[in-house]
Amino acid sequence: MAQTTPNHTQIVSGWAAHDSSGKITPFVFKRRENGVNDVTIKVLYCGMCHTDLHHVRNDWGITMYPCVPGHEITGVITKVGENVRDFKVGDKVGVGCLAASCLKCDFCKTSQENYCDEIQFTYNGIFWDGSITYGGYSKMLVADQRYVVRVPESLPMDSAAPLLCAGITVYTPMKDSNLLESTGVPKKVGIIGLGGLGHVAVKFAKAFGHHVTIISTSPSKENEAKQRLGVDDFIVSTHFKQMKAKRRSLDFILDTVSAYHSLGPYLDLLKVEGTLHIVGAPDKPMELPSFPLIFGKRTIKGSMTGGMKETQEMMDMCGKHNITCDIEMVTPDHINQALDRLARNDVRYRFVIDIAGQENGSIVS
Ligand SMILES: NC(=O)c1ccc[n+]([C@@H]2O[C@H](COP(=O)([O-])OP(=O)(O)OC[C@H]3O[C@@H](n4cnc5c(N)ncnc54)[C@H](OP(=O)(O)O)[C@@H]3O)[C@@H](O)[C@H]2O)c1
Ligand SMILES: [Zn+2]
Ligand SMILES: [Zn+2]
Repeated sequence: MAQTTPNHTQIVSGWAAHDSSGKITPFVFKRRENGVNDVTIKVLYCGMCHTDLHHVRNDWGITMYPCVPGHEITGVITKVGENVRDFKVGDKVGVGCLAASCLKCDFCKTSQENYCDEIQFTYNGIFWDGSITYGGYSKMLVADQRYVVRVPESLPMDSAAPLLCAGITVYTPMKDSNLLESTGVPKKVGIIGLGGLGHVAVKFAKAFGHHVTIISTSPSKENEAKQRLGVDDFIVSTHFKQMKAKRRSLDFILDTVSAYHSLGPYLDLLKVEGTLHIVGAPDKPMELPSFPLIFGKRTIKGSMTGGMKETQEMMDMCGKHNITCDIEMVTPDHINQALDRLARNDVRYRFVIDIAGQENGSIVS
């Protein structure tokens, strides 16, 4: 059970999983009072990241129940603490994966809070006061201002919500590999897995003029990927001939896959000195044969979401380029069906929960 402290006085309605069945039910709990550095947010929308699924089903063995998932949150500020200068009541904001960090280490000082050794996440974390953090599958959130970003006016609050995790998680590796520069030379970019993260990565790569290849397990996604998302090439990863034909063709590959897979066949797609950047987080170690690595002098990297400065930068870039996510809206009473569909790889491309109950309708069947 979450510990609650004396200042946890605000009653909030939310939705939580209570065991590894992952079944979500309505859950009423308490949040802290709005502190001097905090803002209180009326949650409007929350995206459903595959990480939510990993957590509610305890795939990684680290879940603290009850678990209120959700780290792709957009909403409106309803209260600000006395030290808050950059936000005011009525502002449209977003909250992603991060809830607290030490603020003293080199990573915090350079706004790479995501690598702080004391990082606490928006849910399934332990806040300074000892309470368990609860995420955005809830009507209201209290967040330290440092971990809050502005949603640009031009972006709709529903289809912008997944940017708070899916967006920033693919933004940092692409920026790291110099793929998000307007003066950049077009590169051959591969994206493994056309899901929530993958489809945002496609949009970022296309916005900067790159040639995009999707490497997928789902042949049924090909037409839509090409027509709707402007993907240039589509390879089915189980199709040996297709994979062989694209050997040594890509500069960079982003791996967004949520399940176990061998890295060897994907490494073979990279040019010599190409980079495979992993952001997917399967529960089992992935197979890494050495030959495709050493024969191509290739690099494998990984990264975890992004820091707050880059999260705002990413939101602003999306505002400028008009990049939003392709979403399927669900009402809170359909969260379980949506999670089941996410587990079956049946979503185009992100479920977003209509937390505040706008008249958007439910699409999950
Ligand atoms: N590093 C980070 O900071 C970070 C942040 C957010 C999420 N994540 C992790 O990233 C992963 C993806 O998240 P997401 O929300 O994008 O999930 P998602 O929407 O379910 O997309 C994952 C995609 O992976 C592909 N896939 C699924 N099973 C596969 C298999 N057995 N073999 C090969 N490909 C398979 C599918 O694409 P195709 O149908 O095209 O094959 C699927 O659409 C999750 O593990 C999540 O926890 C990490
Ligand atoms: Zn996420
Ligand atoms: Zn720190």
